[in-house]
Parts: sequence; structure tokens; C-alpha cells
Amino acid sequence: MSQKAPVTVTVTGAAGQIGYALLFRIASGQMLGADTPVRLRLLEIPQGVKAAEGTAMELDDCAFPLLQSIDITDDARVGFEGANVALLVGARPRSAGMERGDLLEANGGIFKPQGEAINAVAADDVRVLVVGNPANTNALIAQQHAPDVPAERFTAMTRLDHNRALSQLAQKTGTGVSEIQGLTIWGNHSATQYPDVFHATVAGKPVTDLVDEAWLTSTFIPTVAKRGAAIIEARGASSAASAANAAVDHVRDWVLGTPEGSWTSAAIVSDGSYGVPEGLISSFPVTSAGGAWEIVQGLEVGDFSRERIDASVAELSEERDAVRELGLI
Ligand code: NAD
Ligand code: LMR
Repeated sequence: MSQKAPVTVTVTGAAGQIGYALLFRIASGQMLGADTPVRLRLLEIPQGVKAAEGTAMELDDCAFPLLQSIDITDDARVGFEGANVALLVGARPRSAGMERGDLLEANGGIFKPQGEAINAVAADDVRVLVVGNPANTNALIAQQHAPDVPAERFTAMTRLDHNRALSQLAQKTGTGVSEIQGLTIWGNHSATQYPDVFHATVAGKPVTDLVDEAWLTSTFIPTVAKRGAAIIEARGASSAASAANAAVDHVRDWVLGTPEGSWTSAAIVSDGSYGVPEGLISSFPVTSAGGAWEIVQGLEVGDFSRERIDASVAELSEERDAVRELGLI
């Protein structure tokens, strides 16, 4: 197979749990394709550098044919140098007694300088996926500090929520996930997110013919929206392999395109579609072609969905206002 030009992929929080599940997938070619060599740049805080070096030793030991180089740094200006794809995974977790404002402020201290560094040193075609929570608002902070990068290159991850919804629906209807089309996650990657099945089909049949509203409200929606918390409760740590898998899915679809006739979910900068205020980074039904996400237009939004989309989008507006008040954007 003839090879494409190498792609530089920066991963922040590379020594963390998601980093450990993600880097090997990227280096093996699962994210950008079996014909695309990869140059990894790992960005950590100083305390994380040694563990990142250990992960890099393991990457070496895999002898991945596509992996051309690994650079490790605690300097964002070095870490994002020439980045074509930037996966912003490292974030400050909420600790005991921390209020939401404190969390936003702590993460502002990470995503503002990272946005500035991306603006200064990343490649012209850089594509950014923010995974670290609160992902949508962290993405907004970074985007606001990268004025020279087209806003649509900053995205946040709701693909894990999308995959969770696919799996719940497949189990309920006794089908395989590949039979399901037309599912959407709207809004924030938080417990207010809205997994919407009103345009979804299972093996060509409308989901609304297969499940009732009581199941949607009392089981499906809360199970998907609170799955992150349920994983933390069960594992004692937040989802890692499934989050890494979703990041691989998001970037692969963004760069290589979504399959014909199907859509997925990603949090992207709103253009005002579906009443989501322009500029917010909110999850939408999206397709990708030519390396750009596009919002699926023209879907009918009934009262049931409207109320839930509005609630999640209101939370995103509140988070934006909070970081504005903190002077972070
Ligand atoms: P982790 O604590 O295992 O790892 C985080 C790593 O980030 C650590 O190694 C830490 O040293 C590093 N880090 C912290 N600040 C950094 C900075 N300024 N620059 C570079 N690195 C930095 O956490 P994890 O399990 O890998 O999760 C990472 C983040 O992803 C968390 O915020 C988590 O809540 C979030 N998450 C998001 C989703 C999603 O669907 N969007 C899903 C799961 C987890
Ligand atoms: C998840 O959805 O699994 C995570 O965002 C949960 C978390 O708070 O880390």
C-alpha cells in the first residue's frame, strides 16, 4: 500500500488512563488509516512526564510500522508544534469540595494557554478534539484563544455518549448496533445531554414503533446521560478505553468521512442551527466529508425533544457565562 504524508498527532494527558488506551490505537493506524504514518507528540505536566516516557517505551516495543516518532514535553509550545490533530485529554478533575466555578477556573488555566499555543505553533490544518471535562466549555475556552484557527476546527467529544446510546438501543431492541441509524446526542457532554431517537431506525423500522415513551424517559435517556457516573461508581475511575475508542471514532470520521447515508454526533461550534446560540460548542447530528463536519439539517424537533435540547443548551450558555465572568474568554 502506498503511504500518505505523516500526520502529527498531539495528545495531552498522555500519561493518564485515556492516554494509555488511546496512544496504541493511534500508533497502530486505527484512527487515521493503515496508509498514514503518525508522529506522536505527548504533552504532560511535569509530574506526568516520567510515566509518559514509560508509555513511549511500550509504544516503541510494539514496533508499529506506522509510528515514525514520539516526542514528550511539558511545554505546550513544543507539544503542539506542527500538530495536524490535537487530542486534548488532560484536564483537572473535580476534587472533593470543588464547586463548578472552581472546576471551570482550574480548567481555564489549562485550556487558555493550550488554545494560545495551538494558535501559535500548530499546523494550518489543525483539528482539535477536546475530551477533558467539562469538554464543551474547555473546547470553547481553547477556541476563543486561537483566533487564527477557523472556529470549526475545535470540537468536543460526545461520541462516547452516541456509542452508549447505540448500545442501549441495540440491547433493548435485540439487534446489532450496525442496524441502527439516525440517533443523535444533543447539547452538553453532561447529565443534561439529550439522546434523541425520534429520527432513528432499527433495521429500517422507526424506533418510535419499537419502544414507548415511558422507556425513553425513565430508562434510556437517564441511562445514557448518567453512564459516565455509573462507570465511575463501578470502576472507581472514569471511563478510559471506551472514551479512547470514541476519540478514535470521532477523529477517524472527521478526517476520513462518515459512511454514506449515516450520521453521528459531535459537539461542534453552533451556526445557530436548531435554535442553539451561535458560537456555543454543542452536540449535533453531524456528517463529515472533505475533512469538515456538517450539521444534518431539516430534522423535525417535537416538543419532547425541544424541551430537552433547550435544557442542555441552557447549561452550556450558563457555563459560557461563568467562564466569561472569570475572564477566561
Ligand atoms: P487521568 O487523571 O487518568 O489522566 C489525566 C492526565 O492529564 C494525567 O496524566 C495528568 O497529569 C494530565 N494533565 C493534567 N493537566 C494537564 C495539562 N495541563 N497538560 C497536559 N496534561 C495534563 O484522567 P483520564 O481518565 O485520562 O481522563 C481525562 C479527562 O477526560 C478527564 O477530564 C475526564 O473527565 C475526561 N473524560 C471525558 C469523556 C468524554 O466523553 N468527553 C469521557 C471520559 C473521560
Ligand atoms: C464519561 O462520560 O464517562 C466521563 O465524562 C465521566 C467523567 O466525569 O469523567
